[in-house]
Amino acid sequence: MKKDDLAINGGIKSVTTSFPWPLYEDTDVRAVAQAAQSGQWGNPDCGGLVAKFEKEFAAYCGTRYALTCVNGSVALRLALIASGVKPGDEVIIPPYTFIATATIVIEANCVPVFVDIDPDTYNLDPDKIEAAITKRTKAIIPVHFAGQACSMDRIMDIARKHNLTVIEDAAHAHGGEYKGKKLGSIGRAGCFSFQSSKNLSAGEGGCVVTNDEKLFDMMNSLRNVGRVKGGQWYEHHYLGCNYRITQFQAALLSQQLTRLAEQTKVRDDNGKYLNELLAPVAGITPLTRGHGETVHTYHLYIFRYDKSKFNGLPKKDFSEMLAAEGVPSFMGYPQPIYKQPLFQQKNFLCYAIPDDVDYTNVHCQVAEKACHEEGVWILQHAMLGTRKDMEQFVAAIIKIQQAANG
Ligand SMILES: Cc1ncc(COP(=O)(O)O)c(C=O)c1O
Repeated sequence: MKKDDLAINGGIKSVTTSFPWPLYEDTDVRAVAQAAQSGQWGNPDCGGLVAKFEKEFAAYCGTRYALTCVNGSVALRLALIASGVKPGDEVIIPPYTFIATATIVIEANCVPVFVDIDPDTYNLDPDKIEAAITKRTKAIIPVHFAGQACSMDRIMDIARKHNLTVIEDAAHAHGGEYKGKKLGSIGRAGCFSFQSSKNLSAGEGGCVVTNDEKLFDMMNSLRNVGRVKGGQWYEHHYLGCNYRITQFQAALLSQQLTRLAEQTKVRDDNGKYLNELLAPVAGITPLTRGHGETVHTYHLYIFRYDKSKFNGLPKKDFSEMLAAEGVPSFMGYPQPIYKQPLFQQKNFLCYAIPDDVDYTNVHCQVAEKACHEEGVWILQHAMLGTRKDMEQFVAAIIKIQQAANG
């Protein structure tokens, strides 16, 4: 295989399929049209189609309550604020995640404390959590990154021991399971995103699931401008906002939810198949399963790339070549969250955190290696392909390797 054969240099692509996303059926279109025709596009009490979807999603997750809101960031923010944190409290989070997992902590007047990830899973490393706990620690936000379950038994044990709230960031994890339990249903709250790229989507949207009635009531008030049950329309008790979703979003989500389990199974099976196919490929190591996940949602299929087996080809170049071969893929985060200018310069605008907090001193080696050298993502809609598609993904990787090694 020569360099000229690579698709990035004008050669023929390894992958012959395209992978559209979002997917929808006539029933989705009819449901949205019916919402339009109903004349009720929004519902001030989050009733109608919103209440219907919330009931369905709670049942799906196995929780008493589900509360929708405008996006996954707000879902996390509602759950954290309603959990009763106070200004200056510390919240443990991983550094290899979307920025929202951290910014919502600042927006709650709390301090994000970064704990490194496990190199085998890219999830919060349970062995490193306790060392980061101080008298001010109040919560942990484990992120089920890519849809792989965090080590929830360990995390819940630590949380019980130190009296901490656990809020699961399940933005990647709709339908994922840990030891048979739905992700999002294990901590005090679980937060989902329905943004365009997510495995369950309405373009935008978010949801918190919980079994905790008090938490639910407070979140319900906060998403509805601080109103309370039984109160008047212009009676406001808490510092909330209008975080309600529309009936259109709810109509679409109810339809999409009917297909989630089946789609999750396809992604999970394809993930296992890719693991098998990639096992003999030098320099490519898929993240390992077997940490308690009974269903992996593969919002991302992640493998570790070792450039020494690709003649020193940098990860960025490899990722661009892979995408050009037709594998919907990406090099992932360029740096851990704490390296962002936002944290390095503490550009928190009107939000303040204590002066002695300095993110220029933070170093999470595993997360840094994942960002700079190792982590490559295949995107969830590609995981809905056939076994032949998975074989073509692997052929693309081998083609790049052969070209690199000349
Ligand atoms: C891990 C994680 N948490 C939270 C969010 C925030 O969700 P949203 O974009 O719906 O606000 C995202 C979104 O990409 C995410 O990937």
